[in-house]
Amino acid sequence: MEKKEVYILAIESSCDDTSAAVLQNDEVLSNIIANQEVHSKYGGVVPELASRAHQQNIVPVVQQAIEQAGITKQDLSAIAFTRGPGLMGSLLVGTSFAKSLALGLNIPLIDVNHMQAHILAHFIKEDDCKIPPFPFICLTISGGHTQIVKITNHFEMEVLGETIDDAVGEAYDKSAKILGLPYPGGPLVDKYAQQGNPKAFSFTQPKVGDLEFSFSGLKTQILYFIQKNVRENPDFIKENLVDICASIQYTIVEILMKKIKNAVKQTGIKNIAIAGGVSANSEIRKRLNEADKHWGWNTYIPKFQYTTDNAAMIGIAGYLKFLNNNYSDISIAAKARLKVTE
Ligand code: KG4
Ligand code: ZN
Repeated sequence: MEKKEVYILAIESSCDDTSAAVLQNDEVLSNIIANQEVHSKYGGVVPELASRAHQQNIVPVVQQAIEQAGITKQDLSAIAFTRGPGLMGSLLVGTSFAKSLALGLNIPLIDVNHMQAHILAHFIKEDDCKIPPFPFICLTISGGHTQIVKITNHFEMEVLGETIDDAVGEAYDKSAKILGLPYPGGPLVDKYAQQGNPKAFSFTQPKVGDLEFSFSGLKTQILYFIQKNVRENPDFIKENLVDICASIQYTIVEILMKKIKNAVKQTGIKNIAIAGGVSANSEIRKRLNEADKHWGWNTYIPKFQYTTDNAAMIGIAGYLKFLNNNYSDISIAAKARLKVTE
């Protein structure tokens, strides 16, 4: 009998989360994520430990995703996996696993670009979620990337501007580290920021091109500010944590909003999406929601579970490629550096 439904098993292992998802067409049936606690005490991801943890997690995570979806391996139409960008040792685990399973089941293999997938997560069908129309602008903000991308079709993307140094997620995580918070510190800075005064301390914004970002100067500024104040009062961080976090968050979100405004001005496009781990941030979500009312933008904010790394986003990208018969050869290799346009 001809198969009507498409079932994609997706695997994501680019950094420190092992994730597997099953999609039925553009709907998510399961999305299992195993976070790796092991890195928190090191203040950042330790690549060797990440690949070892992926190796341990991948089989149970995939098994759970299939079980929770209520299907069997024999129902699968294709296997999608993250080819890059990411940590090579981590990517290799997902890539090798996906290849072996696709070979074993004799079904197509589909390679997915992790950064495209963050953006394409907007095409996951959910009852209460609107899907952005083309063309739209996406602010892609994660631990490794900060870009303004123009999307004219699912796989037609153009980078209008990006960071010249650190990514915004890095700025969050490094600020958190300076404050003695565990990795990844972004969500914690966000949590404390919500209780603090955003105008308590002021930091200067970088001077770069209209659609460019720079966060390394801000990080140094925060470091010197904290060092100076701790010299004068050893309890400075403890006594002012929520205000420091709120002030850092305010500065970062001001920068992001300013850049989106510049992109709208330059392109005339008012359909605005955000994607990537930092799009989980409460303040950027709030400010974008307000922009709908204030400036007549149509904003698209991903569901919380599709912001940080997850396999559902790999699944939707895989599904869209599947519809175009865009399969990968079994000889395909993982690639640590991959542009969003590749
Ligand atoms: O997309 P992602 O999961 O991994 C990469 O592809 O990099 O992004 C992870 C980044 C980390 O830097 C993390 O601190 C940041 O996203 N992040 C946040 C929040 N949630 C995650 N940053 C600020 N506020 C948050 N709520
Ligand atoms: Zn990511």
